[in-house]
Amino acid sequence: MTLKRQVGVLGLGHVGLPTGLGFAELGWTVVGTDSDRAKVEAVNAGIPPFYEPGLEELLHRHLNSGRFRALPEIGDAVRQADILFICVGTPHREDGSADLSQVEGAARTVAENLDAYKLIVEKSTAPVMTALWVERAIQRYSNGRRDFEVACNPEFLREGTAIRDFLQPDRIVIGANSEKAKEWLRELYEPLARPMLITDRNSAEMIKHASNSFLALKISFINMLSDLCEAAGANIQDIATGLGLDPRIGAHFLQAGIGYGGFCLPKDLKAFIHVAEEHGVNFNLLREVERINQSRVDRFLRKVQKALWVLEGKKLAVWGLAFKPHTDDIRDAPSLHIVRRLRQARASVRLYDPEATREFQRDFPEEPDRLVYCSSALEAARGAEAVLVLTEWPEFRNVDWKQVRASMALPIVVDGRNCLDADALRAAGFEYHRVGEASLVGEGVGIAV
Ligand code: UDX
Repeated sequence: MTLKRQVGVLGLGHVGLPTGLGFAELGWTVVGTDSDRAKVEAVNAGIPPFYEPGLEELLHRHLNSGRFRALPEIGDAVRQADILFICVGTPHREDGSADLSQVEGAARTVAENLDAYKLIVEKSTAPVMTALWVERAIQRYSNGRRDFEVACNPEFLREGTAIRDFLQPDRIVIGANSEKAKEWLRELYEPLARPMLITDRNSAEMIKHASNSFLALKISFINMLSDLCEAAGANIQDIATGLGLDPRIGAHFLQAGIGYGGFCLPKDLKAFIHVAEEHGVNFNLLREVERINQSRVDRFLRKVQKALWVLEGKKLAVWGLAFKPHTDDIRDAPSLHIVRRLRQARASVRLYDPEATREFQRDFPEEPDRLVYCSSALEAARGAEAVLVLTEWPEFRNVDWKQVRASMALPIVVDGRNCLDADALRAAGFEYHRVGEASLVGEGVGIAV
């Protein structure tokens, strides 16, 4: 490694912290910073601000190796770094467009602290032409200084596997104008020895939005097929296997269920539709993807109602609250809508998630007998008339079904993620419902909940 450049990371969230620690793992010296002082302090004390497998270990390792530290003053981090990654949030506004105020804020802070040549890298997912606007903002707020460049290097980190995704990426995408910027970024990622695509900045930005939109499209496609399977009598798992064996289609992201959630897919899809419309391109295909996803909650609730008839007064165990396994993140999780609707239907719920309980409690505080948090899947099932599975945590596959059955009032399971072993459940005497299979119970009950 010939470079001795210092890496800076603005924003220590789900993207910034794994990215900063990932670069430290590759041997670079990294300073991170965040506008949230409490977060900076926690990180420096070795406490990750959210759950992500492997993150705590990596944080301890690089606080000890001296290759990573968090600075409370953003300006200090800017001045110390030669390559600065902008990893701040880009939430969506009411009209679906990306809210870029945090990105502009970061650009202004960079401008105010520009003391020597720096390469600014937009890593947050942002619409096409954001790099250009970051460049303009830095010029404007630094009195026209020109000794900096802006590149784009989108992240493809999934929550739950963010560290692995950083260290073993499928591809590294770099959008840059100058040879110097390309060279610096190439050298930074060189230790990974992974496929690298170098493009112009607009294309790099669009690759990211298009990737997440395509993933969402795949999920909505399989979910529509799942509806058809239920109506026509076919099995969605077999269909996904059959489709996935064609390498042109690929086996990933063909898991039918209660739909995609999280902080990225829903907002990136909205933002991409907005970008297309702003440029006069009608991308209604993606609006339909969104509509199909939103209809999952209703469909799942109808399934629950078919299995249980009246929901009022029923005691239901909810297994899984996080938007996917191996994270404590509940942002845009289907569980938020499902639990709210169950409460409106006056069912009482017993909730369990291995990691996301604390987050969920902020939106849904405990209410004795009506909304209860449990410390295990088995405890949640106690006295319940059905178990509803909303997140495919691996531990749910390994429960002792005989014990679960003995503790429940009725042996009914409605699996919104098709993650349980149907044979094991049916052998243990459960009435087991999943998505994309003709129902065991008669069709057409459909009372709105
Ligand atoms: C996503 C992208 O995958 C990642 O590349 C990007 O950088 C950030 O956004 P993430 O939000 O962590 O990552 O979740 P992802 O693994 O993509 O799953 C999104 C949602 O889709 C989850 O709610 C998941 O349960 C759902 N999903 C996924 C399905 O319903 N079916 C599938 O087959 C796959």
